[in-house]
Amino acid sequence: MSRLKIVAVSGSPTAPSRTTALVDDVARSLAEQVDGEAQLIELAPLLGQLAQGVWRTELGAAAQAALDEVEQADVLVVGSPAYRASYTGLFKLFFDHIGQYALVDKPILLTATGGSDRHALLVEHQMRPLFGFFQSHTLPLGIFASEGDFENYRVTSDDLRARIDLSIRRALPFIRASAADRDALAVGARPDAF
Ligand SMILES: Cc1cc2nc3c(=O)[nH]c(=O)nc-3n(C[C@H](O)[C@H](O)[C@H](O)COP(=O)(O)O)c2cc1C
Repeated sequence: MSRLKIVAVSGSPTAPSRTTALVDDVARSLAEQVDGEAQLIELAPLLGQLAQGVWRTELGAAAQAALDEVEQADVLVVGSPAYRASYTGLFKLFFDHIGQYALVDKPILLTATGGSDRHALLVEHQMRPLFGFFQSHTLPLGIFASEGDFENYRVTSDDLRARIDLSIRRALPFIRASAADRDALAVGARPDAF
């Protein structure tokens, strides 16, 4: 059974970034619990390349490589800062280039950060429907963090740490089932064939 490939995607256009700190922290914590490998993709440096054209073949090599990594991931941890009560344009631009059926059944843990808790429901009202379009398995408990949960662009609040732990705990049964299904497919036998 190969290690799970967990890819974190940060949709912040700035660096350093609280969103980057959050998705990286969540992906690493998850990797520890499932014997996976965590990888971080920051979209900020890819903005110019992602805006180069509407077709994927028109984009620069780094943007294309990031899109490939996301499509090949076993699990995604995605995050965006709240901009005007939604995810950033950069976050949407990146996922506009993802194949329509490339994320079908993929487990995705949703996260976001904001200046306060006022727009916490963007996880449920904006992010979850986007990945519903992709027919992904969005995981049950999303994570929203506000600026007060971070110091020096690191997760520092005990409350946020507890929410991360709970979100991962709630996600584990789905991720394990998805991994078992993947491994069964790899050896040519679906679990439901028995
Ligand atoms: C253009 C812009 C719009 C923003 N709009 C919101 C908003 O609607 N709601 C909110 O809670 N925070 C808003 N913020 C604050 C950011 O979401 C917040 O600082 C976030 O943690 C920044 O994440 P980052 O460090 O990953 O870039 C906005 C910030 C900017 C620059």
